[in-house]
This record gives sequence, structure tokens and C-alpha cells, in this order.
Amino acid sequence: MRRSIVTRFIAPLGILGIMLLPTSVSADELSRASMLSYTCAGCHGTDGISPGSIPSIGCKSADVIEKALKEYRSGKRFSTVMGRHVKGYTDQEIQLIAGFFGTYCNKPTKK
Ligand code: HEC
Repeated sequence: MRRSIVTRFIAPLGILGIMLLPTSVSADELSRASMLSYTCAGCHGTDGISPGSIPSIGCKSADVIEKALKEYRSGKRFSTVMGRHVKGYTDQEIQLIAGFFGTYCNKPTKK
């Protein structure tokens, strides 16, 4: 039931929106942000809540995450893994990832 409402009405509206507003950031950027963020979940856990010794990143603010990633990339902040991982991302990609996790706060963080 819910799916059919989405496919019949909401999805076409979204597609129409993208066609009418080719410079719009919303839908495009959001799916790109979530795609980029999947790689992080492998270590930091689904929703950014890590099950092991790797720090949780869910519920940190976008600013905190962006700053951490840029400091890892420049080597200013010590890391075993993150410095190498984040080297491949541009500033814009880091902002998208940080924004994604920054608004992704469904569960409380562990610490
Ligand atoms: C291979 C495992 C791995 C992947 C993939 C990974 N991380 Fe990490 N992350 C770590 C580890 C380990 C640390 C602790 C610092 C270190 O030693 O590198 C960390 C630390 C962090 C921190 C700092 C947390 C704190 O509380 O200080 C942030 C923010 C972070 N990662 C974000 C990300 C994001 C965003 C991604 C995806 C682009 C990502 N990480 C992908 C392993 C990973």
C-alpha cells in the first residue's frame, strides 16, 4: 500500500522536481552523501554506532565530523586508519559525508 502511493505520486514528483531544477542540491546530493557514507559504516557501524573499539560517529555534529576528517587528511590529527581512508575525498565530499552523519541521529551514542 505505502509503496504504491510512493511510486505513483511521490516518486514522479521527485523526478519532475529534478528535471525542473537541474541545479537543485537536495535529492541528488542526498543520495550521493548516503552512498559516500556507506563505506564508513563498515567500521563505524550502521547509523554510525560502532559495535567495537572504533569510535562511534553517529550523533556527532556535521561540523565536528568535517573538522575531524580534514585534520586526519592533513595529518594534523593522529590516526591509524582514518588519515589514509580520507585522503581520497575532496572537500565537497567530506562536507556531504559530514552532513549525512550529522543529521543521522536516531539512537544514542555509546559514550
Ligand atoms: C577501516 C575502518 C574505518 C573506515 C572505513 C572509516 N573509519 Fe573513521 N575511524 C576509524 C578508526 C580506527 C578511528 C580512530 C582513529 C584512527 O586510529 O584512525 C576512526 C575515527 C574517526 C572519527 C573521529 C571519531 C572521534 O570520536 O574522534 C571520525 C569523525 C571518523 N572516523 C569518521 C569516518 C567517516 C566519515 C568515514 C567514511 C568516510 C570513516 N570514518 C571510515 C576507522 C575507520
